[in-house]
Amino acid sequence: MSTIKFYQQDQQVPLEMHKVRVVQKLFLPTVEERVEKINEAGNNTFLLQNKDVYMDMLTDSGVNAMSDNQVAAMMQADDSYAGSETCNRLIKVLKDVFGTEYFLPAHQGRACENILAEAFVRPGDVIPMNFHFTTTKAHITRLGGSVVELIRPIGLKPKNNEPFKGNFDIPRLEALIQEVGAEHIPFVRIEAGTNLVGGQPLSLENMLQVAAICKKHGIITVLDASLLQDNLYFIKTREEACKNMSIREITRTLCDQMDLIYFSSRKLGFARGGGIVSNNEKLILRMKEFIPLYEGFLTYGGMEVRSMEAIAIGLQETMDEEIINQGPLFIEYLVKELDDYGVPMIMPAGGLGAHINATEFLKGMPHDQYPAGALAAALYIAGGIRGMERGTISEQRETDGSEHFAELELLRLACPRRVFTLSQIKYCADRVKWLYDNRSLIGGLKWVEEPAVLRFFFGRLAPVNDWQQKLAAKFRQDFGDSL
Ligand code: F0G
Repeated sequence: MSTIKFYQQDQQVPLEMHKVRVVQKLFLPTVEERVEKINEAGNNTFLLQNKDVYMDMLTDSGVNAMSDNQVAAMMQADDSYAGSETCNRLIKVLKDVFGTEYFLPAHQGRACENILAEAFVRPGDVIPMNFHFTTTKAHITRLGGSVVELIRPIGLKPKNNEPFKGNFDIPRLEALIQEVGAEHIPFVRIEAGTNLVGGQPLSLENMLQVAAICKKHGIITVLDASLLQDNLYFIKTREEACKNMSIREITRTLCDQMDLIYFSSRKLGFARGGGIVSNNEKLILRMKEFIPLYEGFLTYGGMEVRSMEAIAIGLQETMDEEIINQGPLFIEYLVKELDDYGVPMIMPAGGLGAHINATEFLKGMPHDQYPAGALAAALYIAGGIRGMERGTISEQRETDGSEHFAELELLRLACPRRVFTLSQIKYCADRVKWLYDNRSLIGGLKWVEEPAVLRFFFGRLAPVNDWQQKLAAKFRQDFGDSL
């Protein structure tokens, strides 16, 4: 991936350094059908059928395009229950990339979180982290632990020029350790590419500071490397001290200071699956027995061996700046298009996807009508585009049943890596701009069915009035017969 200056134009344009060799046909239902489909789905984009979606921007998880070399490697997978050569090949790559000796395979990222929580979290424990992720928090609280978020206030400000919004507030980490005592902190979790604040990176310097503090107090450091790929690119391009380091050097400098690293390969490595790596045998032994119990035998851990071959190749591709810059460059392009138009975006552009600030987009909408969820439903109606609500609906209610209002109400438009063309990204920008100009037509949502746990996955909501029909009618008026 490069950025190219076009003839007689000022703007740098991202240019794909790969070509597409396998494609999937897409469909775009009419706007009237889209109103119907989103209501069949309980106004929850997770419940839409993919056949009814034109651009699937729900997530970057498990939907990244694979390379020819990954697909080729999958054909050579050593399909055995125990002692597979595939596992040995993967261990070798993990050692090469992360510098780690030990590997516990798991079927995806949250499975690693389950195992980490089972092994280390006890009732009353406190787990500091820059920011929570939904599944991480669910596993920790399930076992009686609590999560303390130590992101700096600037990390939660929707728009500024801060290059590393995911950074820890170092003095607050020190103070928290003093306050609760290191013995009540089983580990500190560092989430690379901080998902829920807009895929925002941490600097290498900040992560190393956290590691040094933990070491001083004898606290285990855990790196969630699921979104490390984009974070590595941002360290390389935004952190002055790392300008001349290779992606490989940055990775090793970071990972050498971590006690445990886990990842979802649905994101990291353009594949499926996940795992935990470490150089600390004692820590690995505390978790090892859970792998056959929850996941599968130690040489596959619930993964299909073909996926393990794909991870091995994908991780090596992740060390290539020309490959990992595709996501961030497309996202930056989309964010710039929308920001230039006045759409309130999370700035600077991060990894994973473009994030729209729904609070600002739908100014005046009551918080208990779920602005980010409403915007997600509206964008599906506007363009057959499936984004993901990352706001209050994605939170858990408090133990007393009251609503926990999210600090940021975001609509996330994920850009799975190497999946969309630039014209599709432009189409997405166009429909968001139209929606912005017609934002006064967008109304709120109310619960119809609200599950107690991870409600955003399968909860069902309804529009508070007939705003969706009015939005569709305006679409017809502006776009005529066009889809
Ligand atoms: N950690 C982070 C930072 C993640 O973003 C995710 C998943 C996980 C852990 C869990 O991994 O899905 O393989 O079990 N994020 C996905 C998303 C679901 O859409 O943002 P998983």
